[in-house]
Amino acid sequence: MKKLILVTGGTGYIGSHTVVELIENGYDVVIVDNLSNSRIEVLDWIEQITGVRPKFENFNLCDTSLVENFCRKYPKLEAIIHFAALKAVGESVEIPIEYYFNNITSLLNLLSAMRDFNIPNIVFSSSCTVYGEPDKLPVTEDAQVKKATSPYGNTKQISEEILEDTLKAYSKLKAISLRYFNPIGAHKSALIGELPLGVPLNLVPFVTQTAGGIRQELKVFGDDYNTPDGSGIRDYINVVDLAKAHVVAIERLIQHKNLTNYEVFNLGTGKGTSVLEIIKTFEKVTGISVNYKIVTRRAGDIEKVWADTKKANEVLGWKASLSLEDTLLSAWNWEKHIRSIFK
Ligand code: UFG
Repeated sequence: MKKLILVTGGTGYIGSHTVVELIENGYDVVIVDNLSNSRIEVLDWIEQITGVRPKFENFNLCDTSLVENFCRKYPKLEAIIHFAALKAVGESVEIPIEYYFNNITSLLNLLSAMRDFNIPNIVFSSSCTVYGEPDKLPVTEDAQVKKATSPYGNTKQISEEILEDTLKAYSKLKAISLRYFNPIGAHKSALIGELPLGVPLNLVPFVTQTAGGIRQELKVFGDDYNTPDGSGIRDYINVVDLAKAHVVAIERLIQHKNLTNYEVFNLGTGKGTSVLEIIKTFEKVTGISVNYKIVTRRAGDIEKVWADTKKANEVLGWKASLSLEDTLLSAWNWEKHIRSIFK
């Protein structure tokens, strides 16, 4: 019988790509999502790619009794992959209570459910934001966790601490936190991808929307950083590579391959790319020039960060494989596809 995995936030950007990879690797999936930042059509698109429609439940994970009812309805859950969370850094500064309430309560409800309904495994979506501006690059998992610069970032730090403490107390539970660097790109089918509501906050959706004529001009936030071309550097990882790492993590948990019951891994490419390099590479692979202007730095941005991927490569046996060129092309194909649907 197929193993059943709960994917919270499964209609979202990383969630939907992970659902596809899980289905293609023989798992049965139930998504819980309240569609607060995603669309119900994603279920159709997942079905078009995989030939399978995942089960779907629409409710808010902050409601303890709804989480318990869900666990009674699906008594044979093998693992949870917990993506569902609020994730806009700037917004979290404006409405911190909502961010803390939502991101922490949902995790606590899921952990209580794991304890009470015998769900043994969880994979948690964490972020390289926990490192702040790292002292040493590439950044390793044992680098110091810096004081978070936003309530959003703090929810990721607190969540990791909650997981660590909980896993110490309940030896039957196991967890892996995956610290994502900057996920970009879309599925090769162009049927799923990132769907920012309103004006995009992240670089690549802004690049594709500017190339597509939806935005007039891309602002490059700062060219006076201590980097070769002066613009900020990040580790951009293809979302499909990232999704595949979740399947590997699930297999590690299910097969009891981990020696401790809580582990943390960086998920990046190990390579830093500047904002200007992203623009140049995008222009090269698409043949479209991007109208951009250098402006002052964005408050709260760090200068540079990229991952040390040794632990994920050696312990998980996972490595990012898709090139930046193919990834940016996939982001552009997705942009064209959604524009043809939502004219
Ligand atoms: N940038 C621009 N112009 C834009 C948008 C971004 O120049 O319009 C630059 C930023 O200054 C930065 C780079 O592009 O140098 C990447 O910015 P993103 O907003 O795409 O991503 P961040 O690295 O700021 O943030 C991401 C996630 C957060 C997470 C953080 C962890 O979006 O959720 O990584 O470091 F917290």
